[in-house]
Amino acid sequence: MAEISIRRMQESDLDAVLVVENRAFTTPWSRSAFEEEIINDLAYYLVVVEDGKLIGYGGFWLVLDEAHVTNIALLPEHQGAGYGSLLLEHMILTAKMLGAVSMTLEVRPSNVPARKLYSRRGFAERGLRPNYYAELGEDALIMWLDNL
Ligand SMILES: CC(C)(COP(=O)(O)OP(=O)(O)OC[C@H]1O[C@@H](n2cnc3c(N)ncnc32)[C@H](O)[C@@H]1OP(=O)(O)O)[C@@H](O)C(=O)NCCC(=O)NCCS
Repeated sequence: MAEISIRRMQESDLDAVLVVENRAFTTPWSRSAFEEEIINDLAYYLVVVEDGKLIGYGGFWLVLDEAHVTNIALLPEHQGAGYGSLLLEHMILTAKMLGAVSMTLEVRPSNVPARKLYSRRGFAERGLRPNYYAELGEDALIMWLDNL
């Protein structure tokens, strides 16, 4: 059976995080974006490691008592196997331990797996940010989870 661990992201993870990022997204974040997140006092990033290999990451910013999810991604060959749900659960627990009472995120309406992941965990759609993903010409759905 595979050994899975979830822990805080550190700078030495960045090579592997960038592999996930570049393979999971068509408009990936740069290395410098992640370097800034690692030293950002508001930011909390977790990684999923399977048998010693980093296969995914997710993060949020804690703004007062709200956790704003910035990103969550798994290597394509590990998607659809429950790791996203596991990671999201750890992000929610971490946010709660840090004092967050709600969690919010933006998602593309066409991203069916991500919308399923969030709605199954109780996130509710509450609003739209028009043209949020300008490079893709797509709006963002805003989702919230209350009472963490
Ligand atoms: C979104 C993502 C993090 C979800 O993680 P995951 O490990 O694949 O999700 P899970 O296996 O926990 O499944 C979550 C739900 O999505 C569904 N799902 C997963 N992959 C799917 C796919 N390729 N097509 C359709 N549904 C899919 C699962 O069936 C499950 O729904 P269910 O509860 O109705 O069965 C992951 O797919 C991913 O990295 N996607 C690319 C990056 C991305 O879009 N991130 C989100 C940005 S908002």
